[in-house]
Amino acid sequence: MDKRNEILNAHKRRFATKAFDPTKKIADEDWATILEAGRLSPSSFGYEPWKFLLVENQQVKEDLQDIAWGARNSLNGASHFLIVLARKNLTGDSAHVKHMVEDVFGVPYSESSPQTIFFDNFQKKDFNLSTERELFDWASKQTYIALANMMTTAAYLDIDSCPIEGFNKDAVEHYLSEKGYVDLAEFGVSYMVGFGYKDQVQPEKKRQSLSDIYQVIQ
Ligand SMILES: Cc1cc2nc3c(=O)[nH]c(=O)nc-3n(C[C@H](O)[C@H](O)[C@H](O)COP(=O)(O)O)c2cc1C
Repeated sequence: MDKRNEILNAHKRRFATKAFDPTKKIADEDWATILEAGRLSPSSFGYEPWKFLLVENQQVKEDLQDIAWGARNSLNGASHFLIVLARKNLTGDSAHVKHMVEDVFGVPYSESSPQTIFFDNFQKKDFNLSTERELFDWASKQTYIALANMMTTAAYLDIDSCPIEGFNKDAVEHYLSEKGYVDLAEFGVSYMVGFGYKDQVQPEKKRQSLSDIYQVIQ
């Protein structure tokens, strides 16, 4: 019972923080725990189609203000500011899948193995993933699992956060590519997220009732 309360309290405690206290920094051990929650997140076939960019550079934070309106609050006060990238063109014959299979899973890779063909069928036939945008969005969806895990972990540690989609995707990608931080042949920007300590009172949580969103098929 205590555990249930603990879990729900973390979810109730998390809110999209609009004002961060710039003087408060997240301890290294806490940050490592939040990142680890992201790293351990599940992904389709275990291919981890993500990369986490921690922005510490002040000039980059200033440059982002104009092209990431929804991030200004975080850029101006969050202790840690992440840009999360999603992989492009993650197909069975991609260098990334080969790397995951050989170097991470530790098993032989072949473009014509039953596993690769199974994955290819899943993408093309079951999920209709063929265009570059469809493949990116599929990878991007998975990065949001890491987002949720990181934010809930932060809330558990009494750390506030704000998820961010308020940016011009093309402009941010172009900027990060020009600066040499992102290879756009491999990655696109999925979302941003700020972590730190709130400088505001938490607003009342407003949600639909369970009966509005939950249906049991008997
Ligand atoms: C995918 C996503 C994108 C969001 N983008 C922004 C954003 O750019 N800027 C912002 O201040 N809040 C952003 N939010 C926060 C939402 O407005 C907020 O989560 C929602 O209103 C529910 O409130 P709560 O999180 O405080 O409970 C985003 C939330 C999600 C899940």
